[in-house]
Amino acid sequence: MTWLITGGAGYIGAHVVRAMTEAGEHTVVYDDLSTGIAERVPDGVPLVVGSTLDAERVARALTDHAITGVVHLAAKKQVGESVALPLHYYRENVEGLRILLEQVTAAGVPSFVFSSSAAVYGMPDVELVTEETPCVPMSPYGETKLAGEWLVRATGRATGLATASLRYFNVAGAAAPALADTGVFNLVPMVFEKLTENAPPRIFGDDYPTPDGTCVRDYIHVVDLAEAHVAAARALRSAPGRALTLNIGRGEGVSVREMIDHINAVTGHHRPPTIHPRRPGDPARVVASADRITTELGWKAKHDVLDMITSAWEGWVRLHPETARD
Ligand SMILES: NC(=O)c1ccc[n+]([C@@H]2O[C@H](COP(=O)([O-])OP(=O)(O)OC[C@H]3O[C@@H](n4cnc5c(N)ncnc54)[C@H](O)[C@@H]3O)[C@@H](O)[C@H]2O)c1
Repeated sequence: MTWLITGGAGYIGAHVVRAMTEAGEHTVVYDDLSTGIAERVPDGVPLVVGSTLDAERVARALTDHAITGVVHLAAKKQVGESVALPLHYYRENVEGLRILLEQVTAAGVPSFVFSSSAAVYGMPDVELVTEETPCVPMSPYGETKLAGEWLVRATGRATGLATASLRYFNVAGAAAPALADTGVFNLVPMVFEKLTENAPPRIFGDDYPTPDGTCVRDYIHVVDLAEAHVAAARALRSAPGRALTLNIGRGEGVSVREMIDHINAVTGHHRPPTIHPRRPGDPARVVASADRITTELGWKAKHDVLDMITSAWEGWVRLHPETARD
């Protein structure tokens, strides 16, 4: 099979390309390079520069490369920005997906994997979030991911397209320093940035109903996440009409304070954090039940948070060598 990886020049997409290639699948990257980096696309993997909003370009990529499956990661992903620019997010994430699905079904491509997010759940009030936990997104970004799942599911029902919507929890780490996340939107790079500025890391709220008062999240290594895409892609092969919705997490909660302790230990910086007021919309605890993906695909995460922090730190130091400690 030949898989079109939209957003394959992005942080997670580049890891998916790497994992799919290592698993012996052919891949082609489709990316508008709005936040992606062309150098992340390995030699030998064709890169088509274009937007998912460009129906003609999508159609040509599908036929020129005889695409037989799509992994769709291309999207805008900043929650705060989505609050300020909801129409932009709906256009890129929902209209871009609608156009892509139109071309995919017109070309008779049988399999489609969609990048969703734990943001679809909003503020879940449960110990472990299952795929049956109600989806109540709290931001336009989360809404676009939920609407995306609906589009994907409805298209599958109508056309027989085999689909998987993968709800990623908190992604961190890198397979290699050159593939590290260059954005500063998640806890790990946000703490690294503070250390680079020689400033203390910040904790937003230490009065949550959690064991140490700080928010608890489920962190997943991007290498494990990429492997889950390989498993999902393979499960859709020769499975018309199959429709999977799967959490991708480790089922283990780690608090912000624990993460900062681990980061201090890995980086050698040892800056005690400062406490700030809660940020609006931050749920106390969001931890996945990862049972369904293990049952459906036999996938289980292998890497722990220390692996994530260590590999992310190697990528960060590559870009900010002044931060390194002997
Ligand atoms: N990083 C996370 O923690 C996280 C968590 C949950 C879900 N996700 C989802 O994973 C996917 C990948 O995220 P990432 O962290 O790698 O982000 P990223 O910004 O590094 O990657 C997104 C890629 O998509 C490309 N792109 C964006 N809009 C496009 C369009 N309209 N047409 C073509 N290409 C376009 C960008 O150039 C970039 O290469 C996104 O769908 C995101 O919503 C990410």
